[in-house]
Amino acid sequence: MRLDILTCLPKLLESPFSDSILKRAQDKKLVEVVVHDLRSYSTTKHRTTDDYAFGGGAGMVMTIEPIDRCISVLKEQRTYHEIIYMSPDGELLNQSLANQLSLKENLILLCGHYKGVDERVREHLITREVSIGDYVLSGGELAAAVLADSIIRLIPGVLSDETSALTDSFQDGLVAPPVYTRPAEYKGWKVPEVLLSGHEAKINEWRHDQSLERTKKRRPGLGMV
Ligand code: ADE
Repeated sequence: MRLDILTCLPKLLESPFSDSILKRAQDKKLVEVVVHDLRSYSTTKHRTTDDYAFGGGAGMVMTIEPIDRCISVLKEQRTYHEIIYMSPDGELLNQSLANQLSLKENLILLCGHYKGVDERVREHLITREVSIGDYVLSGGELAAAVLADSIIRLIPGVLSDETSALTDSFQDGLVAPPVYTRPAEYKGWKVPEVLLSGHEAKINEWRHDQSLERTKKRRPGLGMV
């Protein structure tokens, strides 16, 4: 998979991709993440990427030209399956959307800032809008990193134990069961006996029951959509 992320603040995207699972996925060539600085596609004297809103009002609006030029250059090189604008009023990210997107070959993620992008970007250049939740961030960069993480970890081979993505919360419409590690007892707080039993069938049954119980209690609507 190739992920191209378009932003006017590329530094914000340095650390999420330079450590741990997302770094390893790139080292193993399972994903290529390329961050593009929209300022390098600006043709204005000061390489600006925003301007005042027509009609007045507070807040700057990201201009269409640098975004269009960057997307055009990328589209000349390969076909993109989705061009996604990160926006608080987009479709809500969930596990099912992450699963869908993890099957795509090439994706563009566009990060908005200020008051957002010129509406013509949304009308003519992008294919989808994604929100990571009903709250407003200062920009789309952190949201793009969240979306990218949720997708990349699902690519086969990214997680060392492939089944661990399959047993994630939400993957089967259930939240994950509790997990424990050593010591078996700490300050008198004990690990459930069954997990120490070595009886695989019983452990699996216990985990499944715990998942069902937790889902009912914490996310009763999960898996019903
Ligand atoms: N940009 C600002 N807030 C956002 C959100 N909640 N989701 C996606 N992009 C955003």
